[in-house]
Amino acid sequence: MAWLILFTLTILICGNVINAHLVHKREFTRQRTYWQLRQQLIMNEKRMSLGGKLTLNSIESMANQVLMSFKSREIHDGFSNNTTFLPSRNFLEVISEIEKSEVFKILREMPKGAVLHAHESAIVSVDYKLNNVSYRENLYMCDRNNSLKLKFFNNPDETCDWQLLSEVRQDLQQAEAINDRIRQSLTMITENPRSAYPTVDKAWKKFSSIFNFMHSWLSYRPVFEDVYYHILQEFYEDNVMYAEIRSTLTSLYDFDRVYGPLEMAGILKNITDRFVRDHPDFLGVKIIYAPSRSVSETKLDEYLKTLMQLTELYPNFVIGFDLVGQEDKGEPLIKFADKLNAVSTKIKFFFHAGETNWNGLSTDLNLLDALLLNTKRIGHGYALTKHPLLWNVVQQKGIAVEICPISNQILSLVEDMRNHPATTLFASGSPIVISSDDPGLWGVKGLSYDFYEAFMGLMSATSDLRSLKQLAMNSLIYSSMNDQEKNDALVLWQDKWDVFVNKLADLFHNDNRWQRLFHPSLYHQYT
Ligand SMILES: *[C@@H]1O[C@H](CO)[C@@H](O)[C@H](O)[C@H]1NC(C)=O
Ligand SMILES: *[C@@H]1O[C@H](CO)[C@@H](O)[C@H](O)[C@H]1NC(C)=O
Ligand SMILES: *[C@@H]1O[C@H](CO)[C@@H](O)[C@H](O)[C@H]1NC(C)=O
Ligand SMILES: *[C@@H]1O[C@H](CO)[C@@H](O)[C@H](O)[C@H]1NC(C)=O
Ligand SMILES: *[C@@H]1O[C@H](CO)[C@@H](O)[C@H](O)[C@H]1NC(C)=O
Ligand SMILES: [Zn+2]
Repeated sequence: MAWLILFTLTILICGNVINAHLVHKREFTRQRTYWQLRQQLIMNEKRMSLGGKLTLNSIESMANQVLMSFKSREIHDGFSNNTTFLPSRNFLEVISEIEKSEVFKILREMPKGAVLHAHESAIVSVDYKLNNVSYRENLYMCDRNNSLKLKFFNNPDETCDWQLLSEVRQDLQQAEAINDRIRQSLTMITENPRSAYPTVDKAWKKFSSIFNFMHSWLSYRPVFEDVYYHILQEFYEDNVMYAEIRSTLTSLYDFDRVYGPLEMAGILKNITDRFVRDHPDFLGVKIIYAPSRSVSETKLDEYLKTLMQLTELYPNFVIGFDLVGQEDKGEPLIKFADKLNAVSTKIKFFFHAGETNWNGLSTDLNLLDALLLNTKRIGHGYALTKHPLLWNVVQQKGIAVEICPISNQILSLVEDMRNHPATTLFASGSPIVISSDDPGLWGVKGLSYDFYEAFMGLMSATSDLRSLKQLAMNSLIYSSMNDQEKNDALVLWQDKWDVFVNKLADLFHNDNRWQRLFHPSLYHQYT
């Protein structure tokens, strides 16, 4: 009996052991496959994302560790208390907090390449307009119907009760009050932006009123020239080395005459040349003629005629055409499709398209017409990911989408940057550039603020220096420089980049501020 029990037990135990061993092995294989697969998917996603195929050299890797320890700290803080996460909040309320961010400070130093989407009349800082331009001689003000107007005169006309601004400012209290009003008339900044601009239309109403307010005094030729020079100065100081700027080329005035689009382009060219002479490591500007989109077909004919003259007079300076203004309210491209198509072999287009939340309406379909008209880039393309087929064409043809995150938020397309559709463009490695659209109207200058929002809010927490490097290179690659210019630009940019990463990598060894912040576990969680 005893041997039988022993025998059975042995069988049972051995069987179990053998069984357990088999199960364990299968389990182990399955688990190993799971973890390997998981790792593989993560790697593949990273490689697919913007910049994912770049490899960093040893200096860049050190620089990257410094950058990513700052980034991961900020993301971690936001993750544990979302009220502190800046890209989730309205830009107008967090400007000064962004300026304190270590990531932002690094982005300001970074050579960012080019700005490819910005509007000439909306770039310069409020500071320059208020503290410099508005203190010039011969500037008059008129306050009628609670609406402030400024204009330069030799002798003021009769259309309003004009007062010399310098005289109004003699009284200190009045000076303070008028300066407040000028500042308010120049920016979207307001107490509670989300309730002030609850819809796209409300935001655009204020936005358009700012352009109206600015035109009468900033289109005074001497001021225009200084402002434009200062625009380039502000970009240059923000480590931008080249720009493609859209201008409506409306008109300028002097005390004795008016200047039209052709002369305006000439002025822009001359000032650009002067700026480049003064700053040889700034590579210049090209202009995209971009007048208002809410016009008749007759007006469009005039535009196209002007454009032909411009490109003839200033080849390689005026490079193409666009239409501007609120897309939902202006004319859709389809209205002008035949006329535009007729000139599309002679003219390069850089259309704003799909700057809308409306899916399937005419504005949304501007994307379709822009592509059919062979647009070189797409301004905003906010709606692009809703059109997988068109998006595919954009990727195949290498048409860069000009993403302006802050503009989209302030003009009420998106509240929280983490929900911006460009997150998907970043993840899929689509051709994109980051730009600043109208920084002067948000109360800031340059390009770094948009880079901050993109790096912290639109990209993955794990996107690193490689994505930033790709963005900077994209801005040159997708520019309209010719091959020689592009080559020179990339060489100069590389020099600046090397200086930048060297400086950042130095912190890796020498900066205890960074070392204090460096937490290996956080760093590994987010890289
Ligand atoms: C989150 O951050 C805000 C602002 O810094 C602070 O007032 C609040 O107490 C924090 N909440 C928690 C749960 O830490
Ligand atoms: C995050 O935000 C949501 C609403 O936006 C809020 O309900 C939640 O309490 C917040 N969590 C933290 C940790 O602040
Ligand atoms: C205004 O700016 C110009 C250069 O654009 C400079 O020469 C001038 O001194 C400035 N004036 C004031 C009052 O800041
Ligand atoms: C002032 O506003 C009133 C009502 O809004 C309007 O009727 C009037 O024409 C305006 N006056 C001027 C001079 O713009
Ligand atoms: C630009 O500069 C050129 C050469 O100095 C000059 O002939 C031309 O008149 C200038 N154009 C304008 C519009 O000022
Ligand atoms: Zn724009």
